[in-house]
Amino acid sequence: MWEFDPAPESAEPCIEKRYGLFIGGKFTAPRSKKYFDSIAPRNGEKLSEIALASAADVDAAYAAATKAFPLWSKLPGKERGKYLFRIARLLQDRAREFAVAETLDGGKPIKEARDFDLPMAAAHFFYHAGWADKLEYVSPGRSLAPLGVVGQVIPWNFPLLMLAWKIAPALATGNTVVIKPAETTSITALKFASILSDAGLPPGVVNIVTGAGETGAAVVNHPAAAKIAFTGSTEVGKIIQRALAGSGKKLTLELGGKAANIVFDDAPLDQAVEGIVNGIFFNQGHVCCAGSRLLVQESVADLVVDKLKRRMQVLRVGDPLDKNTDIGAINSAEQLAKIKELVAIGVKEGAELHQSPCKLPAKGFYFPPSLFTNVTQSHRIAREEIFGPVLSILTFRTPEEAIEKANNTAFGLSAGIWTDKGSRILKMASELKAGVVWANTYNKFDPSSPFGGYKESGFGREGGRHGLLEYANLE
Ligand code: NAI
Ligand code: MG
Repeated sequence: MWEFDPAPESAEPCIEKRYGLFIGGKFTAPRSKKYFDSIAPRNGEKLSEIALASAADVDAAYAAATKAFPLWSKLPGKERGKYLFRIARLLQDRAREFAVAETLDGGKPIKEARDFDLPMAAAHFFYHAGWADKLEYVSPGRSLAPLGVVGQVIPWNFPLLMLAWKIAPALATGNTVVIKPAETTSITALKFASILSDAGLPPGVVNIVTGAGETGAAVVNHPAAAKIAFTGSTEVGKIIQRALAGSGKKLTLELGGKAANIVFDDAPLDQAVEGIVNGIFFNQGHVCCAGSRLLVQESVADLVVDKLKRRMQVLRVGDPLDKNTDIGAINSAEQLAKIKELVAIGVKEGAELHQSPCKLPAKGFYFPPSLFTNVTQSHRIAREEIFGPVLSILTFRTPEEAIEKANNTAFGLSAGIWTDKGSRILKMASELKAGVVWANTYNKFDPSSPFGGYKESGFGREGGRHGLLEYANLE
């Protein structure tokens, strides 16, 4: 193997020593007077102190959002669009700084933060800026009325991008926002507050409260919320759905997944291997739509697994700030422990583990790219979301068997199909119970394309026309 020289990204992330809560257009100290540390997963060192919002702080955020609603919702769409365009351009201007902050706080490789998270976040604001003055065309003949204040809780795998997915459609449709980032990755949301200020967004239109599950519960259960949008674990999604039942509040849930990535024997196998690698190792596998179950046709299974093992050997695992790194750090010590636990269970249940030989950094949270063969449908590693760089491989003989196995899961967020035949793609896609189906590619996203799940992967769609409708009443 070639030795690479270190290629650390050097842009300054501009991270404050301590962040307050962003409420009513200003940073304020938390009423709780409490702070918690945000850690850099690449080395375990403390990056910043983040305010812990209490119920009283969340109350203040809702009060600010409620106060801002009449003004914001009555602005002509064209004017709201201007703010969204400004936010998008400011994000582009500061993309390198934000990418480094994202990588430091969350552990993802800088090349992904730089080439995926930042451009996609800006794209979501651009896209929704374009809709703001065209809402009468979303559902022809009917008009869209904003809901009011929306409460949003987001996870740690794509911190800034999930913020963009949530905030951009809410603002375009005239709602105001209380949003809570995940406790391990709050920094880019708090940096984003400065972009809102620079864009001149009226105070209170977006309020950012930080904290863990308790703060999230306060956001979700607040009486002033007209709608809740949540992305995170299925476990918490179920708690939220129970809590909101009968309240009349709108709810969208984007939860876990265990996607089947299905490779037929007529597929271009080298390309399929790239798609498998992208499907499971992108963002260390911390991806709700990760292709974590590979279903490969039996006649080519050995060949595909050999090619995959060879490809895995050249994946570069290590410091996420290095521009050559393919697989960075696991987001937190807790998540690393969860991955290790499920991998140990896989071995115990009889699956065969293969890990690429690689030297992991001594400090920080890392896990080698891994795959399991001899996996059966009943293994926990074939049923549960591992949310790490771990692939479970199963085989099939016929398309019917592939569909049966792919749909045999509690989830239904995404799927992949690799084949030379267009007709087979169409047949498979219509029978797979998954919100997104990729054909001869994987993990492709676009703000105009709705994203969301079936079954325990949640409900509601984000992106596109469908996503806008989740933030409005049709009149
Ligand atoms: P989580 O669901 O607890 O965290 C997601 C967000 O929800 C965070 O902002 C958290 O503070 C908040 N939250 C936690 N409890 C809450 C409550 N009772 N009410 C309202 N908000 C609450 O996920 P966690 O514990 O970080 O990860 C556990 C597992 O969940 C992962 O291993 C992974 O399998 C899955 N997960 C899936 C995600 C996805 O995008 N589908 C994202 C994050 C985690
Ligand atoms: Mg962190």
